[in-house]
Amino acid sequence: MTRRTANGSGSRSLADLPPDEVKAVVDRYTGIHDSGIRHRRESYRSFVNHYYDLVTDFYEFGWGRSFHFAPRRRGESFQASQRRHQRFLADRLSLKPGMQVLDVGCGVGGPMGALARDTGASFVGLNNNSYQIERAKTHTRDVRSLCGFIHGDYMQIPESADRYDAAIAIESMPHAPDKTAAFREIFRVLRPGASLAGYDWCLTEVFDPQNAEHRRIKEGIMRGDALPDIAFTSEVSASLRDAGFELLEARDVATDSDPDTPWYRALQGRDVSLKSIPRTPLGRVLTNLVLRAGEKLRVFPEGARAVSTLLNVAADSLVAGGQSRIFTPMFFFLARKPCVPDTAPPTRD
Ligand SMILES: C[S@@+](CC[C@H](N)C(=O)[O-])C[C@H]1O[C@@H](n2cnc3c(N)ncnc32)[C@H](O)[C@@H]1O
Repeated sequence: MTRRTANGSGSRSLADLPPDEVKAVVDRYTGIHDSGIRHRRESYRSFVNHYYDLVTDFYEFGWGRSFHFAPRRRGESFQASQRRHQRFLADRLSLKPGMQVLDVGCGVGGPMGALARDTGASFVGLNNNSYQIERAKTHTRDVRSLCGFIHGDYMQIPESADRYDAAIAIESMPHAPDKTAAFREIFRVLRPGASLAGYDWCLTEVFDPQNAEHRRIKEGIMRGDALPDIAFTSEVSASLRDAGFELLEARDVATDSDPDTPWYRALQGRDVSLKSIPRTPLGRVLTNLVLRAGEKLRVFPEGARAVSTLLNVAADSLVAGGQSRIFTPMFFFLARKPCVPDTAPPTRD
């Protein structure tokens, strides 16, 4: 059920776009990226929506229903690590039946569906991309009594104040044009005493702005993932506090990974599964050849290869960011909206 629709974006899947429009959308997306940080911030809605129109089907094919990374344990599958990463938030927020939880930037509903099944809490998924909301409704059909959706922008959440008992934001804040303003909106819709838990994409203190290679990697991550900019971990903590939150916990959980199984392993094609084949170097060459032939034969729309290339730029840059330790996609934060101070005068015995 979609409870409300806001900011009609006309989002569509790659398959629904007319064949000659895919390339135009790729060009519009890269045009916004290339025009600089200010324009990316001003045009964040179309920037992010173009991106997810282009990549959602690719993501679902390669990643499944949860579009996020996770710290890995030795021998653990990628999907199992994602489930553990999601449950970590549920535990920190003590989610239970009867609670109303906002999933800020819910993607195609994988995490909220799984957590609704696990905890019995009720979720509302907020997303600016209508195609993803349609996918999310399908993926949460079995828990539809616990899952609702809002098509809207987290910079202006179409909800009244003090409404939610908890909120999660899994890797959705990297797209925010202004993090403090985004956190302020989440703060507004949480009831006093309620908490927000999530993971953000950040630069670590290893990142050196004077280092050209570091800057090149950062640029690749932004271009391949529709990001206006990437903040340092310390800036995210400061934004949460500036928005009014008490910061209860904040740390990079990437370091929880087994050293031989880093979070970016899935992007290196080192996980042994059919789905990982396109991520191997040989798989990428083959994918490119298939897409090139498919574009010529009009089996795939013109521009499909450009989308695949964009995702390869993203993957290579994320791996380089992880290997050099200048970047983390899992800066964990747990932040509470303070309880309203008791304004009643103290009583005397
Ligand atoms: C990397 S995906 C993560 C999705 C989901 N949290 C998950 O873990 O599967 C980021 C999500 O944030 C959403 N998003 C980005 N900017 C948004 C905005 N301004 N308002 C609402 N959703 C937004 C995107 O549409 C996308 O679904």
